[in-house]
Order: sequence, then C-alpha cells, then structure tokens
Amino acid sequence: MKKILITGGAGFIGSHVVRQFVTKYPTYHIYNLDALTYAGNLDNLRDVESSPNYTFIKADITDEQLINKLFQEYQFDAVIHLAAESHVDRSITDPLAFVRTNVLGTVNLLQAFKSLWQNQWGGKRFYHISTDEVYGALGEVGLFTETTAYDPNSPYSASKASSDHFVRAYGETYGMPYVVSNCSNNYGPNHFPEKLIPLCIHNIINKKPLPIYGDGKYTRDWLFVIDHARAIDDVFHRGGNAETYNIGGFNEWQNIDLVKELCKQMDTVLGRAVGESEQLITFIQDRPGHDLRYAIDATKINKELGWAPSVTFEEGLAKTIEWYMNNQDWLDNVTSGAYADYYHEQYK
Ligand code: NAD
Ligand code: TYD
Repeated sequence: MKKILITGGAGFIGSHVVRQFVTKYPTYHIYNLDALTYAGNLDNLRDVESSPNYTFIKADITDEQLINKLFQEYQFDAVIHLAAESHVDRSITDPLAFVRTNVLGTVNLLQAFKSLWQNQWGGKRFYHISTDEVYGALGEVGLFTETTAYDPNSPYSASKASSDHFVRAYGETYGMPYVVSNCSNNYGPNHFPEKLIPLCIHNIINKKPLPIYGDGKYTRDWLFVIDHARAIDDVFHRGGNAETYNIGGFNEWQNIDLVKELCKQMDTVLGRAVGESEQLITFIQDRPGHDLRYAIDATKINKELGWAPSVTFEEGLAKTIEWYMNNQDWLDNVTSGAYADYYHEQYK
C-alpha cells in the first residue's frame, strides 16, 4: 500500500485533496498532517475520517524533531505539501509567521524526506503546492506561464516563492524527485471567511458591509476548489519530474464585478429584492502592495495532462453559495472566538 502524506489537509484546499485521494484510491493510505491552526478544521473531513485508508496526525511542520520522527516511523512514499499560512493580509501584519511555516516548515519536510529516501528515490515524489502570486502582478494584459520570472510582492508570496526555490534546489542538489504546481485563486465549500468570496457570503447573510479594497478594479482568476483537487491528482500521477504546472480557471474577474455577481445570486437565494445586497458594498482603504492582476495560462496542464475546469464560474458560485447556506453551523463555528478579533483589527 502506497503511503501518502498530505500536509495541510484540514484546510480549505487540503480537505478537498484528502477527500479526492481517500475516496478514489483505496490502495493508498492517506496521512493528513496538520497543526490545526485557525485555518485548519477537522469538520471539513467528517465524511472521510472513519475510512480505513485515512489517518490524521496533528503536528506542526516547523517541529524538526517530530517531523523527522514521523517520517522514520511511517516511511511516507510521497508528500503532497499544502500546509501553509495562506492569507496575504495576515502576512502583512505578521510576516515572520509566514517565514516560519512556509519557508522553514517546507525545508523541514524536504530534509526529512531526503533523510528517509536519499539514494533510493525510485517511485518517490515530493509534490509542492504553490500559488500564481509568486509571479508578481500583471498589467492589463498578459498571462503567467511556467517560465514567467518570479517577482513576489507580498510577504505571503515571497515566502511561497522561497519555498518553491528550496523544492527545486533539493531536486537539483540531492536528486529528489519533485513536481510543483502554481494555481490561481480558489473558491468553493470550506473556504475560511477571511478571503474575499466566503467573507462576502458571510456578510451578505448577516447584512454586514462588504469591504472592497481601493477601487475594486483588482483582477483575479478564480478556480473551483474541486477542479484544483482534480488537477493535483493529475499532476501527482502524471506530471513530469522537476516540472511546473500552472493551474487556472480561464476566469478573470475584477473584484467589484465579482462581488456584484455574488450579491445578485445571493439576493435570489435569500429572497431579497434585486439590488438589496449590493447596497452593502463599502470601499475601504487599499491593501499595501496590492497586486493589480493575476491571470494564468493553463495550456501546459491542459495539453499534457488533459486537465480542464469541469464547472463554469456560474455553476461553481451557485454550488458554493448553496454549500454555505446549508452549512451555517460550520460558518458560525469558524466565525466565533478569535475570528471576531481578527475581523475587528483588519477592518476597523
Ligand atoms: P488554508 O489556510 O485554508 O489551510 C492551510 C492549512 O495548513 C490549515 O489546515 C492549517 O492548519 C495548516 N497549517 C498551517 N500552518 C501549519 C504548520 N505550521 N504545520 C502544519 N499545518 C499547518 O490554505 P488553503 O487556501 O487551503 O491553501 C493550501 C495551499 O494551497 C497553500 O500552500 C497555499 O499557498 C496554496 N494555494 C492556495 C490558493 C487559494 O486560493 N487558497 C491558491 C493557490 C495556492
Ligand atoms: P483574497 O481572497 O484575500 O485572495 P488574494 O489576496 O490571495 O488574491 O483577495 C482577493 C481579492 O479581493 C484581492 O484583490 C484583495 C481583495 N479583497 C477585498 O477587496 N476585500 C477584502 O476584504 C478581501 C479579504 C480581499
């Protein structure tokens, strides 16, 4: 039985990846290693937690001794590494937390994997999940390709860029088999409501202001999270060694248009008058160093691995809204306690 370590599996994307692998591959044993920070939530995995091929390990990837011990004990054949501090705004207030987890934590995992398998790399693989934000900001035109030079602007993207470089360096220096993918903004069920879409869904339900940074003309490419999990499955199994794959939704939106679309769909779902939720839109002070535009050229993964998004943005957004409406307990749980303090500090 192949033993696969997925880090950050209790988070937003990680939980969908864990589900994809646990349910699709009964001959793999999936170990989900997660520190359960504010962003990690085992409620995301209730439907798979009693599967015989699933084990949860509570551990911090920055804990060198523990990580080494776990690698020696379980002898993981492969790592799919998603654990990270992931929110740009938090990286602006606390950059060191991002260096610790995203840089040191990643190197810790690389080192433990190397100690376990060096010189017997056959069939082993370290798959590092990264972001399109490492490429920096685009102007009005152009797309990020796999050969776009790294040019990160936020402490978050700088820490992710650094971790990507370390993964590549372990490949070059020690012959570690690896693959990297850089994805655009995800959305979907289980998304922590500090990020734009779930934050707005939560605020629309509660008739609270919808905070738009600056003029709202910033552009992101959005991909439904389950399509990202499918892409990760494809890259893990069929991606070339030492290759990078860009993953995106071919789906660019300016923030203001996206939030208006969300308001429109939510008004219908909530039985509100057309235009009611839009009145909650509030322009606030811009994010420092705010990247103007991200957009992905996902031709390589499409051509080489046959991957493409399976849902349109309209369908994905409708599924997302439906999930939040049906899981208001989940939303209440994650927004109680520390969330209120974070929200107050961020949006005061
Ligand atoms: P998330 O913040 O929802 O989840 C991160 C998970 O990592 C949480 O479960 C958390 O408990 C865990 N974690 C954090 N620090 C840890 C530590 N020190 N040790 C062990 N576990 C720790 O993040 P996400 O949005 O699911 O992103 C997952 C990965 O995908 C990240 O590497 C991120 O950079 C990348 N990514 C995210 C997006 C996006 O739109 N969200 C897009 C592209 C790439
Ligand atoms: P976010 O969801 O934080 O993802 P990222 O910064 O990784 O792209 O933000 C998406 C876009 O929405 C980004 O341009 C910042 C903007 N934004 C707001 O305008 N208001 C908000 O309250 C948040 C959280 C984000």
